Amino acid sequence: MIKAFAPATVSNVAVGFDIMGFPMEAPGDEVVIKLGKAPGVTISKITKGKGLSYDPIKNTAGVAVLKMMEYLGISNQSIDIEIRKKMPFGTGIGSSAASAVAAVVALNHYLDAKLSKQELLPFAMAGESVASGAWHGDNVIPSMMGGIILIRDNATLDFTKLYVPSGLRYVVILPPIQILTSDSRSILSDQVTLKQMIAQTGNAATLVAALYSSDFNKISRCLQDVIIEPQRSHLIPKFDKMKQKALELGALGFSISGSGPSMFALCSNTFASDNIVEAAKELYGKDRHGRDAAKVYQAPINLEGAEVC
Ligand code: HSE
Repeated sequence: MIKAFAPATVSNVAVGFDIMGFPMEAPGDEVVIKLGKAPGVTISKITKGKGLSYDPIKNTAGVAVLKMMEYLGISNQSIDIEIRKKMPFGTGIGSSAASAVAAVVALNHYLDAKLSKQELLPFAMAGESVASGAWHGDNVIPSMMGGIILIRDNATLDFTKLYVPSGLRYVVILPPIQILTSDSRSILSDQVTLKQMIAQTGNAATLVAALYSSDFNKISRCLQDVIIEPQRSHLIPKFDKMKQKALELGALGFSISGSGPSMFALCSNTFASDNIVEAAKELYGKDRHGRDAAKVYQAPINLEGAEVC
């Protein structure tokens, strides 16, 4: 029996729609692979995954495993999958990607297939695309590889792991609603103006340069999404207020995490991140059980990605 962990991810990073992402320290999904009782692939248990399918061909982890077995030419082997969800899906932190990534990392070790993390990516991508209905690696690649990932081309998974300045950390806020990626993508216009294109490429390209020079002021000027955030932010309760508060409290930037409703801030110190965490808890208040209505996480960017645990 082999268990693997794959972290949640913040994709888009404000200016890199479908082409940038980084993993969180926690939460992350765990997948256990063990010998199955029947030939082929079965999913015997899903913890905290209400609504997720036990049918391998409709489940992100199941599809990822099936694709990898097909590649290895071992479709008849009995493989059982147990998925331990540690995060809700439909929240914009790459839940389906994490399950798919953890599944192939575990299977790789279980079979002693010795594929590199990079070689495992296409299988996890195939799994994740079942949930998102699209082929973008901005959750799968950072979850697998760790660090801040920049994708040149999603079709060929041509990506670069960027330099992460020391001290850079995130705050991620999950408000108590769900938005499916497929819905959140369907509202996006497929047109951008020349003016928007110039602003977004200037910000995205300069963000990369600013990471390499650890120039936090420049990073801050770059974290402005003029294309996607204006189309999606109305779906997220109290987005504008939370953004204003985070920037006042010293966030380098603030935007939507992935397809939302999660939001993220990047910070250069724990003074700012601690204050943003408190402000988020206060703004979203308590639920009917008296618990914080929003889940809030902060940590340095995860540089390792998925691992056997
Ligand atoms: N880049 C994707 C989107 C990420 O924003 O739709 C989805 O998690």
